[in-house]
Amino acid sequence: MTDRLILGQTLAFAGDPFLEGPGVARHETQSGVLIQDGRITALGDGASLRARHPQVEVTDHGAGLILPGFVDAHAHYPQTAIIASWGKRLIDWLNTYTFPEEARFSDPAYAAGIADCYLDLLLSNGTTTVASYGTIHPESVDAFFAAAQARGLRALAGKTCMDRDTAPAYLRDTAQSAHDDSKALLTRWHGVDRLSYIITPRFSPTSTPEQLDALGRLWADHPDCLMQTHLSEQTDEIAWVRSLYPQARDYLDTYEAHGLLGPNGLYGHAIHLTPREIDRLAETGAAVVHCPTSNSFIGSGLFDMGLRARLRVGLATDTGGGSSFSMLRTMAAAYEIAQLRGTALHPAELLWLATGGSAAALRLGDRIGRLALGYEADLVVLDLASTPAIAQAQARADDIWQAVFPTIMMGDDRAISQVYVAGHPVKP
Ligand code: GUN
Ligand code: ZN
Repeated sequence: MTDRLILGQTLAFAGDPFLEGPGVARHETQSGVLIQDGRITALGDGASLRARHPQVEVTDHGAGLILPGFVDAHAHYPQTAIIASWGKRLIDWLNTYTFPEEARFSDPAYAAGIADCYLDLLLSNGTTTVASYGTIHPESVDAFFAAAQARGLRALAGKTCMDRDTAPAYLRDTAQSAHDDSKALLTRWHGVDRLSYIITPRFSPTSTPEQLDALGRLWADHPDCLMQTHLSEQTDEIAWVRSLYPQARDYLDTYEAHGLLGPNGLYGHAIHLTPREIDRLAETGAAVVHCPTSNSFIGSGLFDMGLRARLRVGLATDTGGGSSFSMLRTMAAAYEIAQLRGTALHPAELLWLATGGSAAALRLGDRIGRLALGYEADLVVLDLASTPAIAQAQARADDIWQAVFPTIMMGDDRAISQVYVAGHPVKP
């Protein structure tokens, strides 16, 4: 593997800025990141690193800001083609747009084409790790992992399980086949290269209690795997859950009763939680995922970032309920939603959510999401003046936070100057 020194500005978080304040981030200009065997092996003054390692290939990004690659903690790659579909709320949106599109993934060639397109879109937006849902078809997960493996990505995914007659007949598995297909995929892919399998019941409305039980058993057999699902996204959905599971105390209880609540659980949206649900999530050490563009696009509600005090919180696009592939746009949406709730998230907090925070939600906080020694060298380099509008806004910045905030709020794939996956540059 090529050893490489990349030069630019760096922003490295020694801890969590929500807990320790923005001062926990160290900003350096004329800095360097040394990469050997796909990992970060030195960080520091660029000129000194260059002098100490004369043999390595050097790429100078000038004033470009080197950050950890973005980590998208919840997405549906099979919904790539239906992103930005007009005019529906969650349940109608699923029935009108999502389910017919997901049916197409029984065709491995179609799945492979979308997986390639999706992962290239993510990389062009600076995202180097994603936790994605597949469809009910095992082929959809094989296609995703094959595409991620070919790109050398650290990536996570699982077969979406749905066996209840609330889902269309053309898109249903069974309790047994969901268990067996998930187990076969887990055996084939979990821990292979940089890939991880996630046990994935879509959400309790589309599973029978028998299927939730079967997946709960699978998780108990493989507790090191993550389990991802949806929780309390829209009020109509919560009422629906109540009618389908009349004996449950609340939405979270429909998972807990079937062995689907635990420290490796990842619950998407989590907007309309009761105090009991928040207590249980905190007691069990589960993580929730904020999907801000989706929550406004499908009209779901305003996530409470105050949950950060008690829970690990990841940040995610939730494409195609989310309206963007970009974690920059997603940070901007998180900022706007927090503003509507009366809080201004600091740029350090936004960048942390999109990197180390999401990595921690995925239980990968010791490997990705930080510029730190020994971490995997998945990196993004931002051009902080990528458009005339952004350039003029950041021209009078007094510090790095003022300099980066216009890119967070207005940046898109034009702001992504380079992306490194395990130390390899992705752009020519
Ligand atoms: N709830 C169940 N399935 C989905 C999905 O595909 N997208 C979103 N946003 N919410 C869901
Ligand atoms: Zn989702």
